[in-house]
Amino acid sequence: MAVLEIVRYPEKILKEKTKPIEDIDDSIQHLIDDMIDTMYVARGVGLAANQVGFLKQLCVIDISIQEEKRPLIVLINPHIVEKEGTVETEEGCLSIPGYMTTIKRAEKVLVKALNRKGNPVEIEGTGLLAKALQHEIDHLNGLLFIDRMSPLKREFFKRRYKKALAAVSSSK
Ligand code: NI
Repeated sequence: MAVLEIVRYPEKILKEKTKPIEDIDDSIQHLIDDMIDTMYVARGVGLAANQVGFLKQLCVIDISIQEEKRPLIVLINPHIVEKEGTVETEEGCLSIPGYMTTIKRAEKVLVKALNRKGNPVEIEGTGLLAKALQHEIDHLNGLLFIDRMSPLKREFFKRRYKKALAAVSSSK
């Protein structure tokens, strides 16, 4: 097991669509274990494969850091099949550290995917789990939560973030 480096915005791979996994082989099992380690070390509630440099439809989610007794979820080739309601809550991302904002999303989702054994699973999520499922599946489709903000808000974010990045690199 290893802790992988998390790719940060504005790296291009975060804008790319990941590809379906056809064969859940040893290298995929290995990647799953590494992603779980990486998510826990970063204290995130979810991580998508393109955030660690792999264009694969794979994500891991564990919301037990905020809601006790929730299981670790590994999703291969996930897609949302049903959405219900809307809710606006605070959101952040391991690839955009230090930035949080409110994002509008579905209140409840039903996701179909494969688990790491290759068996089909259906996951229904509300609250934080619904948010995490939508956030991670967005990643796999090359979307970041900032892509869900209004264009005006996004422009403000980009300017602020560029300045912050410039400040960090000039202090090195
Ligand atoms: Ni994220």
